[in-house]
Amino acid sequence: VPAVIVAIDGPSGTGKSSTSKAVAAQLGLSYLDTGAQYRAITWWMVSNGIDIGDPTAVAAVAGKPEIVSGTDPSAPTITVDGTDVSGPIRSQEVTSKVSAVSAVPEVRTRITELQRSYAAAAETGIVVEGRDIGTTVLPDADLKIFLTASPEARAARRSGELKGADVQATREALIKRDAADSGRKASPLAKADDAVEVDTTDLTLQQVIECVVTLVEEKR
Ligand code: C5P
Repeated sequence: VPAVIVAIDGPSGTGKSSTSKAVAAQLGLSYLDTGAQYRAITWWMVSNGIDIGDPTAVAAVAGKPEIVSGTDPSAPTITVDGTDVSGPIRSQEVTSKVSAVSAVPEVRTRITELQRSYAAAAETGIVVEGRDIGTTVLPDADLKIFLTASPEARAARRSGELKGADVQATREALIKRDAADSGRKASPLAKADDAVEVDTTDLTLQQVIECVVTLVEEKR
């Protein structure tokens, strides 16, 4: 059986991570969280006092941190120069700065190469989740999924994760980050022409997982 490559893209709050992990676990595939990699490089920039507002400064050090992703869907990990940064990359500071860092072409080139090496190394196959996987990172993926949901549903899901955070503030931060990710020049968030769009607004997580598992099985 050849390795199956699944690309899952979409904005935040669509259930991308939960869906991708569950699908990979059910089908015995590896899992790669590419957002975590952009968060990790952003964490490193912040920790090293790099001026995030200066794309030239960001570009100059884009190759410095060594980022390693653990691809077991039941226990994904991420390290920067050997340090586990799974917790710190979810901080508000990193979340508010990641779009600026990930818009720098030198950062994208570096991280894209890393992502392709993980896809090439996956023996049974891999589920890769992000923003530009189907369009840029793995244009030859066997299956491309583009997840969407209404802004209200996305904000509510994110607020739930943040436990009690103000839904309105979450909604505004989310819309701002999506606009930055969709509007940037280098490899913006976009649906590939051959991606299957799944609107998750009125679906349970379990329904989305079943839908994607069925689509993967049809390709195998
Ligand atoms: O998925 P997550 O919200 O963790 O992604 C964090 C950020 O990483 C996104 O807002 C986006 O700026 C960037 N990203 C990207 N390309 C990807 C995945 C994430 O630019 N493939």
